[in-house]
Amino acid sequence: MLVKIHSAALLGIEAYVVEIEVDVSLGLPGHVTVGLPDAAVRESKERIRAALKNCGFEFPSRKLTINLAPADRRKEGSSFDLPICLGLLAYLNVIPEESLRGYLFLGELAMDGRLKPVRGALPAALLAQRRGYQGIVVPRDNGKEAALVRGLDVYGPENLIQVIRLLSEPGSISPWPKEEIISAANYDGDFKDVKGQMHVKRALEVAAAGFHNILMIGPPGAGKTMLAKRLPTILPPMSFDEIIEVTQVYSAAGLLSDRGAVSVRPFRSPHHTISDAGLIGGGIVPRPGEVSLAHNGVLFLDELPEFRRRVLEDLRQPVEDGKVTVSRCSISVSFPCAFMLVAAMNPCEDVFRGLGRAETDCSEAQRSRYYSKISGPLLDRIDIQVDVPAVKFREIVSREAGESSSDIRERVSRAREKQMERFKGKKIYANAQMGPREIKAYCTVGPEAQKLLETAVTRLGLSARAYDRILKVARTIADLAGEEAISTVHVSEAIQYRMMDRYY
Ligand SMILES: Nc1ncnc2c1ncn2[C@@H]1O[C@H](COP(=O)(O)OP(=O)(O)OP(=O)(O)O)[C@@H](O)[C@H]1O
Ligand SMILES: [Mg+2]
Repeated sequence: MLVKIHSAALLGIEAYVVEIEVDVSLGLPGHVTVGLPDAAVRESKERIRAALKNCGFEFPSRKLTINLAPADRRKEGSSFDLPICLGLLAYLNVIPEESLRGYLFLGELAMDGRLKPVRGALPAALLAQRRGYQGIVVPRDNGKEAALVRGLDVYGPENLIQVIRLLSEPGSISPWPKEEIISAANYDGDFKDVKGQMHVKRALEVAAAGFHNILMIGPPGAGKTMLAKRLPTILPPMSFDEIIEVTQVYSAAGLLSDRGAVSVRPFRSPHHTISDAGLIGGGIVPRPGEVSLAHNGVLFLDELPEFRRRVLEDLRQPVEDGKVTVSRCSISVSFPCAFMLVAAMNPCEDVFRGLGRAETDCSEAQRSRYYSKISGPLLDRIDIQVDVPAVKFREIVSREAGESSSDIRERVSRAREKQMERFKGKKIYANAQMGPREIKAYCTVGPEAQKLLETAVTRLGLSARAYDRILKVARTIADLAGEEAISTVHVSEAIQYRMMDRYY
């Protein structure tokens, strides 16, 4: 007897339908799984045998063949436990075979029949909706993410017995209520905690408004890490589409664990010992790396020159393209990674090692040597570079409260709305993502500002890319000021943010 069940597997952050055929026939008891299963898929029979026994059913002592189609794609993980088990239950006449139609099934079985969460429930639910399935059955801990999708019945049973009830007595279990996206973010920190550093805060505001990459350079204890950690508090809220994109990435990485949508912009700060695969993504069936987990949010690299050079070189392409392609054993998968790069560093090696305290302790030559640990092309892609000097005593003890994050966020959001309006219908959300065509259309400057740019480019020896990036930053500064035209004031502020170029 042959039973067919539909399930889903992941390729990148998108799911595709896997048709599972369970064939039970006479012959010597034994089982074989075909369709490029990995060890976890092959072991699923042991989990199913135990789960069936502990729920009071008997594993058929027959010849069992399981086929996972499409046969040419490698399948991994434990999410096929539930559909395979349901195939056997249909064979045992515990559930009617036709009840399996129109649904996608996903879930890992524990020995006692409980359902454990799996990766990729949201992408699977989106797939089910796109393909016109009536519903999807996922473990309870995946219910919230799947229920973000409209126009689909989502069931989140706790164990195998509940699934059997659901299928044999339709209507006995009600679908999961639709999840609302609540983006009431509560942050642990505020810009007003940071004393002084007015120009750094301004630079961060500009960066947040246009989604520009930013590098902060300064001595220990000046507040670089502190400022970077507070950056999410001034970023504008995510749109619905952005939230779904980010949640898909987290679902594919298996990091949602009973959470619904990821509605706050991600903030990732990997340690400098991270490997290339950890940063970019990897694995036999590739999984998203830190750059993708930072999608639509912030990737914070603290102590930038301490990262391995290879790792920093690898960052160049994702920073530019906003997506990264990982190839492993004949499959290649793309993950989105439109993040904002935020980096911090000390001015020179001595200061980093604790041999000097202030930036005055290091010579120009020492500075240049330390900066050369970061590749020039990567630096070129960082639009805003600011000095973070030590805080003055007067500022430390001052009781004057700075501006709060919510005030800054309001200005940033207004500037972002302008950009959304400008790029309507294009796949661009912010000024930093403009291509050459958009720069030409939206970043025209007057003759006086042009002259200023010319002097800067020749004197600092800037690349064409740096030139474009100055224009984009100037556009953002004008947007923050609520002005249509880019003036000399905007351009000169943008040029100031290229302080590192003089060391190259
Ligand atoms: N501008 C500031 N206002 C208020 N507190 C500050 C400021 N700068 C530093 N501090 C205090 O000093 C601590 C250390 O700051 P932080 O970790 O941000 O320094 P850093 O610049 O990242 O140094 P390092 O280069 O060693 O990483 C903060 O947790 C905070 O308590
Ligand atoms: Mg720090």
